[in-house]
Amino acid sequence: MATRIPLISGNWKMHHNHFEALATVQKLSYLLGDDRNGRVEVSIHAPFTDLRSLQTSIEQDDMDISLGAQHCHWEDKGAFTGEVSPAMLAKLNVRYVIAGHSERREVFGETDEWVNNKVLAILRHGMTPILCCGETLDEREGDRTEDKVAGQVRAGLAGVSPEQVGALVLAYEPIWAIGTGRTATADDAQATCALVRGTVAEVAGAEAAAAVRVQYGGSVKPANAAELMGQPDIDGALVGGASLDADDFAKIVRGIDA
Ligand code: 13P
Repeated sequence: MATRIPLISGNWKMHHNHFEALATVQKLSYLLGDDRNGRVEVSIHAPFTDLRSLQTSIEQDDMDISLGAQHCHWEDKGAFTGEVSPAMLAKLNVRYVIAGHSERREVFGETDEWVNNKVLAILRHGMTPILCCGETLDEREGDRTEDKVAGQVRAGLAGVSPEQVGALVLAYEPIWAIGTGRTATADDAQATCALVRGTVAEVAGAEAAAAVRVQYGGSVKPANAAELMGQPDIDGALVGGASLDADDFAKIVRGIDA
């Protein structure tokens, strides 16, 4: 069976200007130290305006933190006012790019097709997509979680080779748990992350499913992180609010209960 190194990702959303970003990442690096020995990977997904400053600081100080982005377009260049291309992110040594976060789907109207275009473009530029999926409260209460989540996974992975699928990251984020302080129980999170992995097995085979990393996201805090990440099909976390504070995020990475 494949060894899956957990990935704990901080999604800062629209928070932290580049000064705040530098201070937060430097503190985080100091708190985490260099003693992770490959047991857990960490990525920070900062706003676009922070990326160049963070890249310089991470590389100069040889920090054990991967640079991440929250979004990109799928074309390399063109008349797309306001957008940033995957080629531009790759040039900054960005390693992980979130694709299809529920806020982008719900607030900015991203469709499954756009998300799939982005996944393919991110891969084409040698970066790793973190493909998000998750159901609303209505869908959960209407017993439609399985259809929604499996459908998003299938659509997002269309045209991706089994080898590439095995190397990417999926994030299950129930929408009702994002920023609400409500977390899925460890059992529920495990069950849906297992469904995500099972869907990967259907579309890309058993080997890809055993290798792919599945994160849980939605009100992950120092107090609940260890139990969630201890589940067999959960390989890390996608953390919003608690990643803005270096102390809290470091506690999550270290699995220390606050
Ligand atoms: P919170 O941790 O603030 O609930 O956000 C989760 C999320 O959306 C991460 O992408």
